[in-house]
Amino acid sequence: MSRLRSLFEQSYVTVVYQQTKLQQSRRSFLKSIVLGATSIVVAPALSGMSAYAAEAEGNKVLILYFSHSGNTRQLAKQIHGRVGGDMVELKTVVPYPQEYTAVGEQARKELESNARPQIATEISNLDEYHTVFIGFPIWGGTMPMPFFTFLEKYNLGDRNVIPFCTHEGSLFNRSESDLRRLCPQARILKGFEVRGSRVSSAQRNVDAWLNSLGFPTAN
Ligand SMILES: Cc1cc2nc3c(=O)[nH]c(=O)nc-3n(C[C@H](O)[C@H](O)[C@H](O)COP(=O)(O)O)c2cc1C
Repeated sequence: MSRLRSLFEQSYVTVVYQQTKLQQSRRSFLKSIVLGATSIVVAPALSGMSAYAAEAEGNKVLILYFSHSGNTRQLAKQIHGRVGGDMVELKTVVPYPQEYTAVGEQARKELESNARPQIATEISNLDEYHTVFIGFPIWGGTMPMPFFTFLEKYNLGDRNVIPFCTHEGSLFNRSESDLRRLCPQARILKGFEVRGSRVSSAQRNVDAWLNSLGFPTAN
């Protein structure tokens, strides 16, 4: 892991957290979201409807995630346990190598060449989902490139998009601006980030975050 960490630090990771700015929608700004310590991505607007309210109207939630070593999968399960919906893993046609140095090298090359790795996951019923959670480990300061493939292939339109990520220090880094660029019409709501090494104790913070988005999490 230390070799991998030094790879991040030397090559392409800018561990600089850029504070996001609250943006106001021109049309139907009802409520600003105050950023919590664990949040980074801000909704342009909630359009008068919380994500949960949308769900209560019969719209489904999709939790789409990518995970190489399991941390983000664990976080996705914590979210799924509270909000339900469908949980789908984004998989590539050619799986990434398991070994740290090898996956680090491949990820670095993909980032540098702006690659679009082929994805094996297909979502045929995207229309059914009003809210899409997108979860990923930070790779090289942003989402793994398969998400670039996915988001260029599937137009999320003006859906609610809720990012979550695990990392080892970068926080959301450039994934925020990349996500905005890849789904420009989406309502990108407040995201959640946590260090991969702390995922197992994240449920309480996950609940607080989901509550702030309007999802009931009482159990
Ligand atoms: C190829 C690769 C690149 C990574 N790049 C970063 C990075 O830029 N910043 C960071 O904080 N962590 C980075 N990490 C650490 C992962 O984001 C972190 O361990 C995450 O929790 C892994 O999630 P997963 O178990 O779902 O794959 C990287 C890990 C890998 C394998």
